[in-house]
Amino acid sequence: MTAEKEYKKVTTNTIQKMKAAGEKISMITAYDYSFAKLFDEAGIDIILVGDSASNVMAGHATTLPITLDQMIYHAQSVVRARERCLVVVDIPFGSYQSNSEIALASAIRIMKESGAHTVKLEGGEEIIDSVKKIVSAGIPVMGHLGLTPQSINKFGTYVVRATEETEAEKLKKDALVLQQAGCFAIVLEKIPAALAKEVSESLHIPTIGIGAGGNCDGQVLVMHDMLGINTDFKPRFLRRYLNLDVQITGAIKQYVSDIKSRDFPNENEQY
Ligand code: KIV
Repeated sequence: MTAEKEYKKVTTNTIQKMKAAGEKISMITAYDYSFAKLFDEAGIDIILVGDSASNVMAGHATTLPITLDQMIYHAQSVVRARERCLVVVDIPFGSYQSNSEIALASAIRIMKESGAHTVKLEGGEEIIDSVKKIVSAGIPVMGHLGLTPQSINKFGTYVVRATEETEAEKLKKDALVLQQAGCFAIVLEKIPAALAKEVSESLHIPTIGIGAGGNCDGQVLVMHDMLGINTDFKPRFLRRYLNLDVQITGAIKQYVSDIKSRDFPNENEQY
């Protein structure tokens, strides 16, 4: 008989209680089973199956090309590894912007086919009908404001957003509107720290920052950036915890050399 493990599962309620208790929320992206298992075991609160998979997994220049089917595939792999953390899945570009019926259908496919716990959408007032429709179907929604990568063709650049008053005012209003529509949390990407602080203090739901300073209720990074797998991306906000590029390249060079020199496999590595 195997002893049953007791896991304290993280839910959207847990995340909201963490804000109320002043406990910071940790979030990281993952797109496959093996990394998701390591991150979950290490105690991460939220795994985001981000549409950044389009960049770091598929090699596209933007997040726009990834499809709903591809997001569901990544989400299924992550959910299989999950024991404790909350799993959030990005609804990809083109799968929610047209109208709220399409948005709901996409969210339902993600929840039904992957077993994930919540979805994330980019935007404020312009997607509010979709947020309401998805929430009213019982699906928790995480919002995303500031530098929303699906709108890169509108922005034309990845510079810090909402530095001008008009955009900052719209962002503050959007955050309140998303909260009223029922979002359980909001990602704030690449905006001034002072603005992120003001928004975080004005909401009762948590904010998760990326390049938005230390006063957000939580932080998120893309796994390939923080583990040093993707070294081309060097924004100021990124803290690199490992240099896996050096370690992986070194290991593969050694492997190639061991094969060529007939060192691998040796007598103990054969039958
Ligand atoms: O897709 C993603 O990885 C994201 C994070 C940058 C928040 O949306």
